[in-house]
Amino acid sequence: MDTPARTIVIGGSGYVGAAICRQLVRDGHAVVFTYCRNAAPARALAEELGVSALALDLAAEETIAPVLQKACEALGGLDALVIASGLATAHERAGQPLVPAWHEVAPDAFRRMLAVNVTGPFLACQWAAGRMAPQRRGRMVIIGSIDGVKPVPSPVDYACCKAALVGLVQSLAKDLGRHQILINLIAPGILDGGIAALLSPELHAEYVKHCTLKRVGTPAEIAAWAAFLIGTRNTYVTGQTVILDGGL
Ligand SMILES: NC(=O)c1ccc[n+]([C@@H]2O[C@H](COP(=O)([O-])OP(=O)(O)OC[C@H]3O[C@@H](n4cnc5c(N)ncnc54)[C@H](OP(=O)(O)O)[C@@H]3O)[C@@H](O)[C@H]2O)c1
Repeated sequence: MDTPARTIVIGGSGYVGAAICRQLVRDGHAVVFTYCRNAAPARALAEELGVSALALDLAAEETIAPVLQKACEALGGLDALVIASGLATAHERAGQPLVPAWHEVAPDAFRRMLAVNVTGPFLACQWAAGRMAPQRRGRMVIIGSIDGVKPVPSPVDYACCKAALVGLVQSLAKDLGRHQILINLIAPGILDGGIAALLSPELHAEYVKHCTLKRVGTPAEIAAWAAFLIGTRNTYVTGQTVILDGGL
């Protein structure tokens, strides 16, 4: 059994994040999660789990520390941070998400992807490390993607962000280790929902064809690993990218 951890889950209202919140609450951890634009499903999840939900837009840099501070106060401290937020495309056409060809990616959209998927998570880790270091313990997990570690068909701006997270985790792990803070990245392949809904049926089929286990993954499979990595049973895994892609 893990010792209960006071955990903030950024993007806990999403497809993967909700599975992580459910797993952590089942395991007896105290959880506060954040959402961004979709307050109604976040409120429903908070009610289901009996936990608090706070609004946070990682692109609004100046709000990250105050929101995390509020979450930390609600928890009475901080043992673990999970970053399960993410933006798969910053492009829209007629209000609908659109994955453009790489040569059509506009600079502003690229910058927004970096802000939400890289800069925001970095600032959140920076803030959390400041809380965890004095207590000489802590765990962080970021949800990356197979797109950042293997050459798969992928939106170029998204793949760049996910590859940046590999470097972020490796670099932070080196320094945070001296404070007994462990940080890891989980890189899922395609899952059966969430941002994968943006992908074409052809790409899904192609993935399943090349996947050793001949299926897409589930958010519960990601949540089980996130729970292990933030738990006290994880004593020696840090700076790693755990690839959960069914053997692509
Ligand atoms: N689903 C997959 O197949 C898959 C595969 C590989 C990797 N991943 C990774 O898993 C993570 C979660 O994906 P998902 O499928 O669960 O996506 P999702 O269902 O769209 O959830 C995304 C989460 O991020 C939050 N979010 C969006 N923009 C944000 C912002 N600007 N600031 C803070 N939070 C923001 C969303 O909040 P609101 O809904 O309230 O806006 C939501 O909680 C992402 O990092 C993604 O890259 C997913």
